[in-house]
Amino acid sequence: MNLLEFYRVEKEILGIGGWGRRTPAGTCRIIYGLVHTLKPKICFETGTFVGLSTIWILRALYENGIGHLYSTEIMPEYVKITADFIKRIGFNDDSFCIFQEDTTKVLRDGHFHSPVDFFYMDDEPKISYIERLNLMMPKLSPGAYVLAHDTFKDNPFEGAYPFLEYMKTRTDFKVFDIDEEYGLSIMRRI
Ligand SMILES: C[S@@+](CC[C@H](N)C(=O)[O-])C[C@H]1O[C@@H](n2cnc3c(N)ncnc32)[C@H](O)[C@@H]1O
Repeated sequence: MNLLEFYRVEKEILGIGGWGRRTPAGTCRIIYGLVHTLKPKICFETGTFVGLSTIWILRALYENGIGHLYSTEIMPEYVKITADFIKRIGFNDDSFCIFQEDTTKVLRDGHFHSPVDFFYMDDEPKISYIERLNLMMPKLSPGAYVLAHDTFKDNPFEGAYPFLEYMKTRTDFKVFDIDEEYGLSIMRRI
């Protein structure tokens, strides 16, 4: 991995796209720290966009020396841009796989390795997080971490706050909520 190129790419990504599209840079650093600490073998994120959360997860996996990332993105042009960024940074091709497909279809088809230890949801519409999680449940490892973006109550976008409320009613997850920027919920399967 080329660290200088990593930060060049991050700067470029931060210049792409409209306000609120990306996982904020600070939130990506929290995700990076978690992946670094938890050392998941299999990570799965929904909603690649142009790869900001993707490169931070891949960096943590690279530094951990173990782990694979699956990512889903429905727009072909975003998949291509992300793949180019990843290539420039120099991550191994076998450390990630981007499904250029609808997340629901990918989860239903189940053509990915499991158990999934780290599941980050950031695609749209946010209303589908409940469905996404329920599809993923049989593939989640015991003690898996599930993260959801945009769960802040007053999120100006199509917020995922109802998902957070729903998760708080489940007894099989412990929920920790960070209410900065658009909201990041961190949930551990118990
Ligand atoms: C908020 S952005 C993701 C931001 C990204 N995690 C980052 O760090 O920059 C949401 C992305 O999900 C994609 N998306 C929306 N609906 C989708 C679906 N049903 N399946 C897969 N991707 C989807 C959009 O095209 C968009 O690029």
